Amino acid sequence: MNADPLTVADAAALLRAGRVCAFPTETVYGLGANATNSDAVLAIYETKGRPRFNPLIVHCADLAMAETVAVFSPLAGELARFWPGPLTLVLPVNADAGLSDIVTAGLQTVGVRIPDHPLALELIAAVGRPLAAPSANPSGRLSPTTAEQVRRGFAGRVPVLDGGPCRAGVESTILAVDGDEVVQLRAGALAREAVSEAIGRPIGVAASEAAIAAPGMLSSHYAPAASLRLDAAAPEPGEVYLGFGSPPAGHDSAVNLSPSGDLHEAARNLFSALHALDATGAPRIAVAPIPETGLGEAINDRLKRAAAPR
Ligand code: TXA
Ligand code: MG
Repeated sequence: MNADPLTVADAAALLRAGRVCAFPTETVYGLGANATNSDAVLAIYETKGRPRFNPLIVHCADLAMAETVAVFSPLAGELARFWPGPLTLVLPVNADAGLSDIVTAGLQTVGVRIPDHPLALELIAAVGRPLAAPSANPSGRLSPTTAEQVRRGFAGRVPVLDGGPCRAGVESTILAVDGDEVVQLRAGALAREAVSEAIGRPIGVAASEAAIAAPGMLSSHYAPAASLRLDAAAPEPGEVYLGFGSPPAGHDSAVNLSPSGDLHEAARNLFSALHALDATGAPRIAVAPIPETGLGEAINDRLKRAAAPR
């Protein structure tokens, strides 16, 4: 499989022809399509088995392109200082953008970001159009942080531009800007505290009810095949242990997210660790406690969804 790796030019040609193609970002791999071509965008939903009411993030090569897609208030412009980077802004959609309605699932807002990955930026620029891209996994499953995980997830049916393992490892932080309020809709690879400090104002978290009402925040998500037990001080018989920091005395971690207790390293390793533990066929995974600060907020969010009843 994959004797000839795709080049950026190959991937751009597929996307310009209205096909889907997976590509690397600094967070996770995205399943891309031309955001201005409804048939191409539909193919994303079909490939993923994604519910149609769940809108897609639009990826841009630069601020000029982002400004064709969304309307930026001065506050939104300030937040754009984190681009390229793992931040998605939910802003009023620019009606002249020519975006497919399917991208926004009929909402008046659009999620937009400029990813911090050289291949992603080159690809978007080569296509010359914004790319709609959800994470490149079948709906409800673990997000991929390597090209191989994308290929396996879709049984080799999706072309992948391989950019190596993703640096951040969890999805972008999603912030909605509404007047002078900034609300976090999804914790992600950019810590809420860092943004709050930079713009000098507090950032609230969407109430969980609102978050569930917001499309895509389904409680069971990012699910491995194994069941998960969170906040486990030590594994019980029959469980494999996903550690963080020093393992409890007398127990080995099957995988350790970060032996030194570094949250960036843990975020980078999270989905790969769950993919790897799943591949062992272990039915139950016990997960060490993770502090709820910085990137811990995103890690705990993904773990809670992975552990949710389905
Ligand atoms: O890091 C990421 O964000 C990755 C990479 C590929 O960029 N993408 C990603 O996309 O995680 P996806 O589709 O798996 O998650 C996008 C989330 C969904 O929960 C969706 O509901 C939300 O963004 N979203 C998109 N547009 C929105 C909007 N207009 N209002 C509220 N939520 C929105
Ligand atoms: Mg996803």
